[in-house]
Amino acid sequence: MKQTLLNKIKNKDVIVGVVGLGYVGLPLAVEKAKAGFKTIGFDVQKDKVELVNMGENYIGDVVDSDLKSIVRSGMFSATTDFSFVRDVDFIAICVPTPLNDYKEPDISYVESSAKEIAKHLKKNTIVVLESTTYPGTTEELIMPILEKGSGLKCGENFYLGFSPERVDPGNLIYKTKNTPKVVGGIGKDATEVIAAMYRAVLESDIKEVSSPAIAEMEKILENTYRNINIALVNQLAILCNKMDINIWEVIDAAKTKPYGFQAFYPGPGLGGHCIPLDPYYLSWRAKKYDFHISMIETSGMINDKMPEYCVERAGKILNRFKKALNGSKVLILGVAYKQNIDDYRESPALKVIEEFEKSGSIVDFYDPYISQYKYKGNIFKGISAIDKNIIKNYDIIVITTSHTNIDYDMVADNAIAVFDTKNAMKDVKNRDKVELL
Ligand SMILES: NC(=O)c1ccc[n+]([C@@H]2O[C@H](COP(=O)([O-])OP(=O)(O)OC[C@H]3O[C@@H](n4cnc5c(N)ncnc54)[C@H](O)[C@@H]3O)[C@@H](O)[C@H]2O)c1
Repeated sequence: MKQTLLNKIKNKDVIVGVVGLGYVGLPLAVEKAKAGFKTIGFDVQKDKVELVNMGENYIGDVVDSDLKSIVRSGMFSATTDFSFVRDVDFIAICVPTPLNDYKEPDISYVESSAKEIAKHLKKNTIVVLESTTYPGTTEELIMPILEKGSGLKCGENFYLGFSPERVDPGNLIYKTKNTPKVVGGIGKDATEVIAAMYRAVLESDIKEVSSPAIAEMEKILENTYRNINIALVNQLAILCNKMDINIWEVIDAAKTKPYGFQAFYPGPGLGGHCIPLDPYYLSWRAKKYDFHISMIETSGMINDKMPEYCVERAGKILNRFKKALNGSKVLILGVAYKQNIDDYRESPALKVIEEFEKSGSIVDFYDPYISQYKYKGNIFKGISAIDKNIIKNYDIIVITTSHTNIDYDMVADNAIAVFDTKNAMKDVKNRDKVELL
């Protein structure tokens, strides 16, 4: 099986399947097809499948013309019909791994996609899980589902492994194609074949590790490292405010050290589908071993409090103008979870808005990338533009995302007060009304 698959990879005879055509799956599918592998995308959302088949792009990191040309040339198509799994030789699973309301892993998407794949899995297929998850998922959950549903034996009839996705939406340098990738298969042969497949597509280094659990754990280490370091600077930001020290200047000074320090920045909380969620996959799993990862719990406590803290700080600013949160007009600038993208999943700005509303404030938002968002079942519509008359109309402007295409000089010149939680206004000269987190 190993040699047959290595030959197929070399000759670009492998047909690729990508399950889940979201922020991770669509760019991956596009890269595979661009590298000369015929690719089929699978998704449960009919509208996404239809868009793909029309060559219409819906993910910021994918180049519109790339998608159009691979769809037109027949190299890439999408379907909701899993029976086409029988046609593919390599399958990457890129489905969501969210948390439930109690911050416990919701592994149901991974499970249901594995069950669908199992029904149609044929011999000599490579299956790779790319969704972030707890160590043990590939061997303990996916392997039995695939073996039971297909009647095939892992390692003998098909290969299985884990290779975490590292896509960083909006990153202008590192994309799917040039970001190094880690691969851990069940058995050496699986690792070798999976690594060969990624080497045939990507320009980056491929690091082979000895098991899927190593690859699963290293991904969680990456994201926990960010989560905890952001908690550290968030807590320092609160202390620095009490001490009248500018945390942003502190970090800028610290990062002149050429080794042993990496800059992380405070903000209104954590956002995105990874950093706020993934560490909880590990803390949940740890409990099975009677182990409590208190660092994850502690950083969660700090980061989760940030939206409330930001509203408290805004309340203090309003107080100086003899205004209360209750009844004040607030404009939120930016609801995306990070700069220059249109993704608002887990965005702390939505919680900041919720906190303001709980206090009786009248809140609008403006985001050049997001005209409306859905939160807890409700649709929130933003204002479509800002100018000096609009800015003057609010008691306070709160910056929650540091988008670069906002005229911050105009905002600073016309606002009554600005609370900048992201240091988005760092280059603005007129700082009279600007207060930083
Ligand atoms: N977004 C990121 O920046 C990022 C980065 C690294 C890793 N990840 C990880 O990658 C995984 C996917 O994240 P994403 O951001 O691409 O999610 P996403 O929500 O953008 O996309 C997931 C897609 O999977 C589809 N899907 C759900 N259930 C399915 C099923 N049973 N069969 C087929 N398709 C199904 C959904 O319809 C959706 O289109 C997650 O585990 C996430 O933690 C995400």
